Amino acid sequence: MTEATPTAGPAVAPEQAQPQPGDWLCLLAPAANRVYADQAPRLAAAEWAITTGTAAAEASIAGVPYLHAAASELDLAAVGRLSACLALFQAGPPAGSGPLAAGRPEPTLVPVALPDPRQGDDDLVTIPKYAGKTNEQFTRLLLNVTLSQVTAPGPATVLDPLCGRGTTLLSAWLRGLDAAGVEADVKAVEALAAYLKTYLRRKRLKHSAAVSPVRREGRSLGKRLDVEAALPGGTRQLTVFTGDTRRSAALFGKKRFAAIVTDAPYGIVHGARDGRNAASRDRSAAQLLREAIPVWASQLAPGGALGLSWNTLTLPRAGLAEILAYAGLELRDDGPWRDLAHRVDSSVVRDVAVAVRPAQT
Ligand SMILES: C[S@@+](CC[C@H](N)C(=O)[O-])C[C@H]1O[C@@H](n2cnc3c(N)ncnc32)[C@H](O)[C@@H]1O
Repeated sequence: MTEATPTAGPAVAPEQAQPQPGDWLCLLAPAANRVYADQAPRLAAAEWAITTGTAAAEASIAGVPYLHAAASELDLAAVGRLSACLALFQAGPPAGSGPLAAGRPEPTLVPVALPDPRQGDDDLVTIPKYAGKTNEQFTRLLLNVTLSQVTAPGPATVLDPLCGRGTTLLSAWLRGLDAAGVEADVKAVEALAAYLKTYLRRKRLKHSAAVSPVRREGRSLGKRLDVEAALPGGTRQLTVFTGDTRRSAALFGKKRFAAIVTDAPYGIVHGARDGRNAASRDRSAAQLLREAIPVWASQLAPGGALGLSWNTLTLPRAGLAEILAYAGLELRDDGPWRDLAHRVDSSVVRDVAVAVRPAQT
């Protein structure tokens, strides 16, 4: 991978509330999920800071939310990849105080073309709808902030070791990356296989897709899904094993991943498998991370990054930080990294942790 930016040491946030000529203004995309949308500008500002290395603050122009960043050289490719950026403008001189501006001079906005990072149609990720699906915009954010910390040489494959029906995997495909997954729920993997076959056939994209049994030493270990598809941006591969994520290293053998990106079970509705009541599910969700993180760390290439989201009501950030450190990973934990926690519902406060495997180990 060559897209790593240095650990965020964002420049100064715009000092003035009123945008000045030359400042950047990013129009935020409306988020599908209301609860997430209310917190989206704060998360977008953190994602901006982490992935562009410059600071941005929330701003309202004519009642519409934007991110506002001071005039500076800007990595337009990184802005084009932001999960919540609908369009980028550069501020011009104030438009004056005509009747539309109601006496308050707003800046004129000059549209700036952004490189389109997508290597396929968004509907690849947005068509599937099911209980337990991770919000697509949030998945892009998680993928983005994780990939921004990867220094391992490419080409990268993204592993989601709790992949469900594949939101992370298909988002990785749209970023032009290959994908791999592990999922305990066989029906979820079968649903992903059926969806991909239908989607690729309907879009007339050349592909192969097969679900086959996995056997080692005469024993059945579950199934694997292998897909290869010619997407508009190039040929993409995907491999998913059914099974327990704590066996992920055994399932993938010697393969190392530049990025591991996952939305962990929240311990409530989509709890880890062995809980009977809410309290024991809480413990098992945290226990799953304690047992799985060392396994995932062993699958990271030097210079690779693990990005995960989890429910802080089952495991506080400090507890997760200890688990990551014990696994030999360096947690990104300063500045905007502390601004990614958000409420999902009354029983889930989700946060994001990105930790890297040092390039020298
Ligand atoms: C929050 S969901 C991820 C959803 C996924 N991002 C999607 O959009 O489809 C967590 C997933 O972890 C799976 N899971 C829970 N415990 C597991 C385990 N021990 N091994 C493998 N998968 C597990 C669940 O079945 C669930 O699909």
